[in-house]
Amino acid sequence: MRDQLQALEKQALQAVGAATSLEELNSLRVRYLGKKGELTAILRGMAQLPGEERPIIGQLANELRDRLEQGLADKIASLAAAAKQAQLAAEEIDITLPGKAFPVGHQHLITRTLEEIQNIFLGLGFNVVTGPEVETDYYNFEALNVPADHPARDMQDSFYFGPELLLRTHTSPMQVRTMEQLRPKPVRIIAAGRVYRRDDDATHSPMFHQVEGLAVDANITLADLKGVLLAFAQAIFGAERQIRLRPSFFPFTEPSAEVDISCFLCGGAGCSLCKGSGWLEILGSGMVHPRVLQLSGYDPEQVSGFAFGMGVERIAMLKYGLDDLRHLFTNDMRFLRQF
Ligand code: DAH
Repeated sequence: MRDQLQALEKQALQAVGAATSLEELNSLRVRYLGKKGELTAILRGMAQLPGEERPIIGQLANELRDRLEQGLADKIASLAAAAKQAQLAAEEIDITLPGKAFPVGHQHLITRTLEEIQNIFLGLGFNVVTGPEVETDYYNFEALNVPADHPARDMQDSFYFGPELLLRTHTSPMQVRTMEQLRPKPVRIIAAGRVYRRDDDATHSPMFHQVEGLAVDANITLADLKGVLLAFAQAIFGAERQIRLRPSFFPFTEPSAEVDISCFLCGGAGCSLCKGSGWLEILGSGMVHPRVLQLSGYDPEQVSGFAFGMGVERIAMLKYGLDDLRHLFTNDMRFLRQF
């Protein structure tokens, strides 16, 4: 019987040692220690033993039971530990790995240029206003001294919604709208936004952006215009920039001038950017035409004003060395990411 018990213990402990799951261990417990298990089966033979042997075998059996229980418990603990270990390993986070980079975008070149221009004029005491892109013929042309048959309309063909409504061709209508709102107070505003024209080539897009400037007050002179535009040119293109005013014509200003800045690439000596002239045209300007002041509710005998208008794309093209304005709107990330 002792041999039987020994053989049973050896076999059972081996089986426990080899088990790989809790279910397996449970069925081993039933098989060896259960009511109908192998130990019970062996102990049933005790009846045939001589009397003095029985307590000894009984004690051996109890000790064997304890060792098997212990073996099962140890194995359960080690399986649990291994499972925990495996889970930890599977869920391990390596905090030293570089993080996943979020694709962070940045401002579009037009937005950035627009903000830069706005900030400069804010610093010079101008307010920023915006207005409708769908504009009436009156504000876009009539009130700016461009009557229906005026040849200046030819250069600003636009997209019409009938005879009276169109996509504005410039931000100049905001001169009139602002004066109507603020009269009789002095005006110092810039108006920024999208404008539209029937134009499409490397330096013109059917949709583009303008910044309009307007100052109206007593005693505003051409010297004020020059001072403001010089400060602007130096702020955006470098402190060494000079400006020059070339006589020009706009129906809503008198006198009118195109404004050039000294070329920032060659410093005025002449290069391919300025086509050898040393100067780059950046905007149109002039003294507000008395008729425009009058139509907007100001008395040209009491106040005067200057105005200017520039293309944001043109400023961006010059500043960032772009050869084709259409790059700005085709949304090719390879282009946009460069800035
Ligand atoms: N509105 C003109 C254009 O789009 C630009 C312009 C010229 C605006 C002279 C002005 C100005 O305010 O005084 O071509």
